[in-house]
Amino acid sequence: MSKIKYQTLTGMHDVLPEDQIYFKRINKVVESVAGYYSFDKIETPILEFAEVFQKAIGDDTDIVGKEMYSFRTKGNDLVCLRPEGTAPVMRSYLEHGMHNLPQPVKLWYQGPFFRYERPQAGRFRQFHQFGFEAIGDANPAIDSQIIQMSYDVLKELGFKHLTIEVNSIGDSECRPYFKKILTSYFKSRKSSLCTDCQRRLKDNPLRILDCKEEKCQRVKAGAPQIIDHLCEKCHAHFKQVLEFLDEFELPYTLNPYLVRGLDYYTKTVFEIVETSEDGKALGTLTGGGRYDNLSKAFGGRDTPGCGAAAGMERIVTLMKSREMKTGPKTDEPKIFLAQLGKLAKRKGMKLFEEFRDAKIPVAESFSKDSLKAQLRAANKMKIKWVLIFGQKEALEDFIVLRDMDTGTQTEIKLNKVVSEMKEKIKKV
Ligand code: HAM
Repeated sequence: MSKIKYQTLTGMHDVLPEDQIYFKRINKVVESVAGYYSFDKIETPILEFAEVFQKAIGDDTDIVGKEMYSFRTKGNDLVCLRPEGTAPVMRSYLEHGMHNLPQPVKLWYQGPFFRYERPQAGRFRQFHQFGFEAIGDANPAIDSQIIQMSYDVLKELGFKHLTIEVNSIGDSECRPYFKKILTSYFKSRKSSLCTDCQRRLKDNPLRILDCKEEKCQRVKAGAPQIIDHLCEKCHAHFKQVLEFLDEFELPYTLNPYLVRGLDYYTKTVFEIVETSEDGKALGTLTGGGRYDNLSKAFGGRDTPGCGAAAGMERIVTLMKSREMKTGPKTDEPKIFLAQLGKLAKRKGMKLFEEFRDAKIPVAESFSKDSLKAQLRAANKMKIKWVLIFGQKEALEDFIVLRDMDTGTQTEIKLNKVVSEMKEKIKKV
């Protein structure tokens, strides 16, 4: 029998209390940017039919082919833990007839996603993403808005060395033609490709451009560029996107080999990368693009869409290593309630509730019986006001207030404590 290990699964981790401030900060910024651009929040289930992703992302991709946590339910449905958010959001849009709403329907989300990847720095099996999706509008202004919003979030969090890599991968009109050109280029160099890419050559040569193997990267460097083979429509669309980016003065670069690892993309694709001060890429934080054929892949009507998602763990790691600000700690208590004796503890707990009703943050240590220990705790928290509630005070319904800065003590009637303390903390 194998030994049970009481630890998280490989590639999964607890988000411990000390890391919550980072996630909270990111969520706050995302929510405010999303709100400003009129994106509404959506939550889709963690489990979906596996087909949602097979149809959307493509069977030949790493995500569907190798990384999905899929299994059969007791009812024999083939389901999986969601590896990404775009397909479920489109599924939801179609399922709820959102085409009847004013278009585009703009949605944002945040939550855990799952990919059975080889864990390494910045790559986990459970990770969090936030994402934006604008469905129902083909205008290039939407592409640039998604890029702008994605950039805004990172910028507001304090990232200073961001680069936006953009490309267009065409559509069903021009891509098949480009695939042929690409195939013939790679075919003549087949022996220099990794085994995965030799297979990809048959099914999806574009995927070779995405391969991280060094030998493939070398071959890729001389490959034809799709940008030179776009149809007129895709070309005009891309040109307009770039014009918007110029107008917004966003720091973008063209990356002619950026294809992204998901099949649903058409036209614009982009990634936002943070670099170190000396220009070394520190990983992709955000990825996205347009997906005009996704709705049709689900059997829906012809509905364009565009979106992006960012990996929150990657953002948190950089925020920590660079000591980026997480915002002021909200509601830090300025009052400590200390108690001594059984009756004082009971009455003290009731008083604590009264403070909560009045929305006044108060620290306590009801599990401690020694006054000394409680005063030490208050000191450690750098709290100015300590309310001392002893046996005598509890019997006579008053409380002692000690100013920790000056050491002076005064008495306050129990039924006046909340209102008097409210006045006091207003002044500091
Ligand atoms: P993606 O590029 O697969 O795109 O993921 C977006 C971001 O999620 C990545 O840039 C990375 O920061 C983070 N991420 C992905 N996989 C992992 C992992 N294993 N561990 C940690 N972080 C990870 C999508 O998911 C698309 N749905 C984006 C999109 C939205 N396109 C259009 N709309």
